Amino acid sequence: MRNFIFHNPVKIYFGEGQAVHVAEEAKSRPGAVLLVYGGGSIKRNGAYNDVTAALREAGNEVIELSGVTPNPRLDKVLEGVKLVKEHGVSLILAVGGGSVIDCAKFISLGSGLGEDEDLWDDYVETGKPAPENLVPLGVVLTTAATGSEMGDAAVLTNWARNRKLGYTSFPLTPKFSVLDPTYLLTLPDEQTTYGFVDMFCHTCEQYFSLPSDDNLSDEMAEAIQRHILRSWRACRRHPRSYEARGNAMWDSTLALNRVISRGKEEDWVTHGIEHALSAYFDIPHGAGLAVVHPHWMKYVYASRPEATARFARWAVNVWGVDSTGKSEREVAEEGIERYVDFLRLVGAPLTLPEVGIPSDSATLDKLADHAGEVGGSYRHITRDDARAILASCVTSVVF
Ligand code: NZQ
Ligand code: ZN
Repeated sequence: MRNFIFHNPVKIYFGEGQAVHVAEEAKSRPGAVLLVYGGGSIKRNGAYNDVTAALREAGNEVIELSGVTPNPRLDKVLEGVKLVKEHGVSLILAVGGGSVIDCAKFISLGSGLGEDEDLWDDYVETGKPAPENLVPLGVVLTTAATGSEMGDAAVLTNWARNRKLGYTSFPLTPKFSVLDPTYLLTLPDEQTTYGFVDMFCHTCEQYFSLPSDDNLSDEMAEAIQRHILRSWRACRRHPRSYEARGNAMWDSTLALNRVISRGKEEDWVTHGIEHALSAYFDIPHGAGLAVVHPHWMKYVYASRPEATARFARWAVNVWGVDSTGKSEREVAEEGIERYVDFLRLVGAPLTLPEVGIPSDSATLDKLADHAGEVGGSYRHITRDDARAILASCVTSVVF
């Protein structure tokens, strides 16, 4: 196990009706609340009503910032920063999915910067740690996908420059998150699928990395993956089941609250390449991951003995592959094939053409340039490796 620090102080309110706690959270921070949301789904799933009722009870002034888009953009963040400064906001409340939460995290960061500092150039591009004592952030979650509700990461797109970058810094961590599964009952099938792809991918990017020692993190990652697959099937069968949605919501939070990455190197290459796809083509994050992830797997599974062994273990423990009489490599390949078959079954896109991205040489070059030297654990992925992975995404994975 590698050395680690674990510090995750997010207070979680889980279950139906838990948005009432927004009242006490707001009351304890006297001043204006900036209510951040997207295109209006929160007015159809009940979250807006619940949150505004709680805020009325608390008595804080409420300023609304709506219209956050999926793959949130810098200009919306700057609009929010202006509102925070004008109204002396004491709590930023994100009500929505990962995009709304991330936009709110960057509003919090942007509001804490000096006049001579630039949010994009000085922080997002460089990864410079955020200052302490930012305007606190609360979350009311409406998707099961990103884990942003219990983490210090956020992702932002600078559309003018076609850049989509992840940024991680502890002060961005929400103070509290309300996870009420009833808000997920309105999620369209497509969005449900993208969310599941995202959380599954998150668990993999922690699990498929060195060191290959005996680590509880890996056992937990396998358990979460098996559970994600069960929740996924249940949500497909019963999209309006509270239990199925509740499981999906908690699965996604545990998939990226850093518990299963403790002691691990982690390997976020698939996310790095996906960000390039969204930066230029604005596709849903989960759709891009579904295209890239199995191709990354094929690229690395035989790159070193530890990788093959880990993929074989995954095939058996997560996908139920029978290893009798098969080589480790054959078992590993069967696991990846089962994953691809599952993605196909649930209607996830598997190739660049399926998400409307052309695969001509110039496009592959610019996507690879964005991905750059992505790094990785089992296999170090250079810009040219990223291009090779992208080139393989023209067709679906076969062995
Ligand atoms: O805008 P509204 O009207 O709210 O509609 C949204 C949006 O169109 C809709 N939606 C959300 N909740 C709904 C709903 N529709 C019906 N019922 C509901 N309950 O869904 C659409 C997508 O929302 P979005 O927030 O974009 O989805 P998601 O939660 O998947 O977030 C994706 C974003 O998070 C980033 C992604 O890159 C992407 O920008 N990520 C953030 C991470 C983090 N902060 O740690 C990690 C992830 O790997 C990911 O990269
Ligand atoms: Zn993700």
